Amino acid sequence: MSAAANKFRQALASHQSGDLAAAENQYRKILAKAPLEVSVLYHLGVVLHQQAKTAEARQVLAKTVANAPDFPEAHFSLGVVLMELGRKDEAESALRRVISLRPHMQQALLRLGELLVLQEQYTEAASLLRKATQLRDSDAKAWVSLTVALRHLNLLEEAIDANNRALALNGRDDNQQAQMADLIYLLYRHDPESARQHARRWIAAFPDSAFAQHIGSGVLGLPAPDRASDSYVKKLFDNFAESFEGQLARIGYQVSDIVATMTESVGSKGDLIILDAGCGTGLAATSLRQKASRLVGVDISPRMLEKAREKGLYDELVEMELGDFLKTRKAAFDMIVVYDVFIYFGDLASILGDAAHALLPGGSLAFSVECSDEGCSYTLGPHGRYSHGKGYLMDIIKQSGLHLHKVQETVLRHEFDKAVNAFLILATKPE
Ligand SMILES: C[S@@+](CC[C@H](N)C(=O)[O-])C[C@H]1O[C@@H](n2cnc3c(N)ncnc32)[C@H](O)[C@@H]1O
Repeated sequence: MSAAANKFRQALASHQSGDLAAAENQYRKILAKAPLEVSVLYHLGVVLHQQAKTAEARQVLAKTVANAPDFPEAHFSLGVVLMELGRKDEAESALRRVISLRPHMQQALLRLGELLVLQEQYTEAASLLRKATQLRDSDAKAWVSLTVALRHLNLLEEAIDANNRALALNGRDDNQQAQMADLIYLLYRHDPESARQHARRWIAAFPDSAFAQHIGSGVLGLPAPDRASDSYVKKLFDNFAESFEGQLARIGYQVSDIVATMTESVGSKGDLIILDAGCGTGLAATSLRQKASRLVGVDISPRMLEKAREKGLYDELVEMELGDFLKTRKAAFDMIVVYDVFIYFGDLASILGDAAHALLPGGSLAFSVECSDEGCSYTLGPHGRYSHGKGYLMDIIKQSGLHLHKVQETVLRHEFDKAVNAFLILATKPE
């Protein structure tokens, strides 16, 4: 073995043993004498990347492929590095080059598929990701991305199958459980029977999953629990927190305006102690802040609360289940607003009682619920939200000791181009 080959072998040994700094040093020494030795350049690029020296890795890998245009591993590593640097178009070219050189390189198919999902090129992404899953059916990431691509192509049955494969590999992943909930609901709108079959299998496979339990009940029409479990709501909104405001803007949800209209009649000198119950990311805070001397928010989801905190409009933010929180605050608030939150409660008797307990005499409770049939108390829909009947609401408000002040029916938002009707209610606690 030549001296140079021996040095390279030693550098590779350092690299494989995990001594990355030593390996980098050794590769550099070899390159000082033979600057265009492409396999050494390639390994230097890899070891730089492993040490998070991403920009340097890019330079070295670009030099490698310039000198060895048919070296698939080097194009692949360059593609990965370019992705990390956010240079998506260049990454796409590099990964396409890998696949032209080595059509069955599973990781390249996966990475390009993932990239095309990000670029909303779902048809080609699905085709690449199908190949990636055929080549390695134990790759959960490939099943996850394939699910996303298929969902966007509205190939719902195939998406559910792909998601089942992802869940079989990692059933504890809340994102995939939430994905299954969405897919089954989407399918339910076109083919309720097939959705029910999938829901039964899902519940049987994951009896402990909060998502399977909750959406399964909605889709199968099983007796609805009194309210969504804490773990379902927490996981749902922790998952949703990042995209929540963007999605609500797209479906036309204007909570701040609704709150302002509904609470017009409630004192407006900026001297109220107000609770934003189930405050989420704090969308109602702007209009509430103008009325409040003290604005408190409570929510069960820490990730939603983080977003609310960033707004800097609340005096106090509490991470707690709403009913538990209200029980701790006797006669503490002039006004409690609960928007788009009771859709996760079926039976409202106990929570309205808790709200009445937390209101000061003369205080107001403003809330929204989705409308159900007149004669019905409440139902849990296949989307996982409850809706309430008007007669039930009137009875339950009376039972809680509050006086109904105003009830208004309105379109709260749109879902799949259909209006979602809601009752907006203002009730007061007697002086
Ligand atoms: C659809 S969001 C509405 C957020 C906000 N009120 C708005 O209108 O933008 C529902 C919020 O209620 C919270 N939530 C639901 N049930 C809850 C409970 N039992 N206790 C505390 N927070 C709850 C969720 O975590 C979520 O942040």
